[in-house]
Amino acid sequence: MAYLDHAATTNLLPEVKQLLVEQLGAAMNPSSLHQSGRAARQLVEEARERIANSIKVRPAEIYFTSGGTESDNIAIKGLHWARNRNANKNQILISSIEHHAVLDPAQWLADRGEAQLIQIPVDAVGRIKLDWLADKLEADHESISLISVMWANNEVGTVQPISEVQQLAERYGIPVHSDAVQALGALPIDLTQSKVDALSVSGHKIGSIHGTGFLMLRTGVKVDPVLHGGNQERDVRSGTINAVGAQALALAVELAVARQGAHSTRLSELRDELVARVKQSVPDAVYNGDPVNRLPGNAHFSFHGAEGEVMLMLLDAHGVQASTGSACSAGIAQPSHVLIAMGLDPVKAKSSLRFSLGAHSSQTDIDQLIAVLPEVVSRARAAGLVSDNKVSH
Ligand SMILES: Cc1ncc(COP(=O)(O)O)c(C=O)c1O
Repeated sequence: MAYLDHAATTNLLPEVKQLLVEQLGAAMNPSSLHQSGRAARQLVEEARERIANSIKVRPAEIYFTSGGTESDNIAIKGLHWARNRNANKNQILISSIEHHAVLDPAQWLADRGEAQLIQIPVDAVGRIKLDWLADKLEADHESISLISVMWANNEVGTVQPISEVQQLAERYGIPVHSDAVQALGALPIDLTQSKVDALSVSGHKIGSIHGTGFLMLRTGVKVDPVLHGGNQERDVRSGTINAVGAQALALAVELAVARQGAHSTRLSELRDELVARVKQSVPDAVYNGDPVNRLPGNAHFSFHGAEGEVMLMLLDAHGVQASTGSACSAGIAQPSHVLIAMGLDPVKAKSSLRFSLGAHSSQTDIDQLIAVLPEVVSRARAAGLVSDNKVSH
C-alpha cells in the first residue's frame, strides 16, 4: 500500500505512542485540587512551557484545544466578537484559499448578520495579493476586526507571506491570525520573527493523537469564548484539559520543530522526484500551486478530462491512497474553492489530485503510484467527467 495522504493525517510518532503507553490510565483532572489533580496540572503546565519554547512565545500564550478546527473557530469567532463588541469593527478579512475551519465560521458570522466577510484574492499560484491587502487596509482599516491568512495551504501547498501581512496589519493595530496546521514541522516557525497575534496548530498532523491541538494567542489579545462551561484555559476554552494529550502534543511539537530542517529537505527531494515522474508518465498533467514556495511534502496536479473522485477510487483499488484535496459533502464533490480562487475553471478544478508525503514516505510509494497512474488517468478520461454539466460554485 502507498499512503500519499499525509496532509489529511499522519502516523503516530513512536515516541508519542510510548509516552501514551506510560501515561494513559491514571485518573487525571488538572482542575482538581487534590494530589492527582495537582500532578495532572503539573503535566499540563510543563507541556505548555515546552510548546511555548518550541515556537518562541510565552507559556501563558498557549491554549490547549481539540485541534485545528477548534483553534480556528476560537480565533475567528472569538476575536471577531471581542473586537466588534468593544470597538465596533464589523469586517472580517480572510484569504480566499482558507481551510473550511476558517472559512466556515467566518461565513457563519456573515450569514447571521454579525460580520461582513471579505476575501483577499490570490494569484494563479495561490499566493495572496499583498497590494490588494495594502489598499484595502488603507481604505477600510477602521472597520476591520481581524485578518486571517494561513501559513501554508493544505491543497496546493503554497506558502503565504505571513510576516508581510502582519507588518501591514500592525500599522493599524489589526490582529492577524494564521492557520499553521500544515506548516508546523514543514517550515521554520519562529514567532519572534513572524509576530502574528494568533496561530492554530493541530496535533494529528505532526504525529500526536487526534483531538489534540493548541491556539497561540498573544498576551493582551482578547477573545470571547466559543465554548462555555468550567472556565478552563483562562476562560478561552472550557472543558476538562486532556493532560496526557497535552504531553503527547508537546512531544510531537518539540520533535517536529527539532527535525524540521532534515525532514523538509528529505521530503522536498522525494516530492521533486514524484513531480518529475508524474509529468513523465502523464505528460499533460498540470502541476498546480507555487512551484518553489510550497510545502515540501505537497504535490498537486490537474489531469484534464479525468474526474478527481474517479481517479481517487481507481488508485485506491490499486492500493494507492491520495486525495482530491477538497471536502466532499453529501457525496457530491464540489470544485475546490481554493482552485477556483486561483482561477482554474470548475471542470479543471474537479480533475485534480493531491499527493502528500510524510515521515513514512519512501521511494517505494512513488514507484507504486507511477506504476498505475497512466492507466488510472486514461481510464478516468474514458469514463468522462460525471459532472460536466452540474458543476456549481
Ligand atoms: C489548513 C488546515 N486547517 C485546519 C484543519 C483542521 O484541523 P483538525 O483536523 O485538527 O480539526 C486542517 C485539516 O485538514 C487543515 O489542513
